[in-house]
Amino acid sequence: MTEISMTVNGNSVGPIDVPEDLMMLEFLNEYLNLTGTRYGCGQGVCRACAVLVDMADGARTMAACVTGAIWFDGRSVRTVEGHATRDAQGQIAQLSPVQQAFLDHFSFQCSYCTPGFVNEATALVERLARAPIARADVEATVLEALNGNICRCTGYVRYLGATRDLILETPGLTLTEDGA
Ligand code: FES
Ligand code: FES
Repeated sequence: MTEISMTVNGNSVGPIDVPEDLMMLEFLNEYLNLTGTRYGCGQGVCRACAVLVDMADGARTMAACVTGAIWFDGRSVRTVEGHATRDAQGQIAQLSPVQQAFLDHFSFQCSYCTPGFVNEATALVERLARAPIARADVEATVLEALNGNICRCTGYVRYLGATRDLILETPGLTLTEDGA
């Protein structure tokens, strides 16, 4: 056993004793009851389990099914439960822009893959807020960013379209005509 502490969705967690070989997915699901992070392939392939980790140069996603919980010791993690704004009672008051875009575009059916897509698209949106790109490059950039996420229901088009439209409609994520 080893002792870990971290920040999850803005809340301090731990110190908690965990087995040294415990995967982050199991830590979230079983120890913290955060079941939105999904077990798909269990091999780091489908990205259903992707969580956001805040690093010095911005957030990146990690596959929680193949990353040990101890890797997250001392780090700040965001799961799908942490994206929406909540009221004083803890109820969801407003979805994040990515979540709302997926809903508006009917991007998912069973939703099993959705938490991974939310985190991956959010990482992309946050990256573009730091480093905007030309509008002509948005389509290819979205495809590249979401390419690793597997969905068995929808055929991807609506996830990609929702993310593309959100980026094009959000000021500051793309460069203007004169490159500013
Ligand atoms: S469950 Fe983690 S990548 Fe598939
Ligand atoms: S909506 Fe069912 S797996 Fe993606």
